[in-house]
Amino acid sequence: MAKLIITIDGPAGSGKSSTAKLLAARLGAAFLDTGAMYRAVTLAAMQSRCDLADTAQLEKIVDSTNFKFEIKDNRMTVKINGSDFTEKIRDPQVTANVSAVASMPSLRKRLVPIQRAFAGQYEKIVAEGRDQGTVVFPNADFKFFLTADGVERAKRRAKELTENGYKVDTNKLQTEIEKRDRQDSTRKVSPLIAAADAIKVDTTSLTLEQVVEKILGLIKKND
Ligand code: DC
Repeated sequence: MAKLIITIDGPAGSGKSSTAKLLAARLGAAFLDTGAMYRAVTLAAMQSRCDLADTAQLEKIVDSTNFKFEIKDNRMTVKINGSDFTEKIRDPQVTANVSAVASMPSLRKRLVPIQRAFAGQYEKIVAEGRDQGTVVFPNADFKFFLTADGVERAKRRAKELTENGYKVDTNKLQTEIEKRDRQDSTRKVSPLIAAADAIKVDTTSLTLEQVVEKILGLIKKND
């Protein structure tokens, strides 16, 4: 078990991934991108043309696929049956399907122990996702829940996608993000929700540097 566990949860575009990475770098910690795991399973299922609404088929895929998650060059790399899919899991088609896949309880049951084992390899870990403070690491040392308004979140995602060569319509993106948030927040198992003991940070008008400084200050204050 890691000696220091910090969780960062929140909706898409709230700044979790960038914050987790920079915060981890500042603290000499590792980071865990759990969204990448749900994306990897979704991609593997899409590649095998599995019916994404069929739980039994999905379970079969998860159980028969070799997933490998590693931190390299400050990012979480994803290998599926030995091939690198680190970029491909960010594809908009994967994004469109991942929320439905992530709502399956039996799938979450399989991924949670993998997330805990990943964290267990390190002394210090910053884990980000939707349920890290509520379900995966309920005894984390520090829990944060990031928020930001919808327009700002859509803008951030649009920038990220454009930088990676995708054409985007920001309005459409905002509608998709809101749909995904609704799905993630209303599902029965491990919904996107702030843990009762999480500190909420609104990142709407903050730079990444400011968010990390604020979190470091809060850690110091609450230590
Ligand atoms: O953070 P992200 O956009 O890469 O997450 C992809 C999807 O995975 C998101 O729609 C919700 C789901 N997810 C989840 O249900 N639980 C997590 N711990 C992380 C992500």
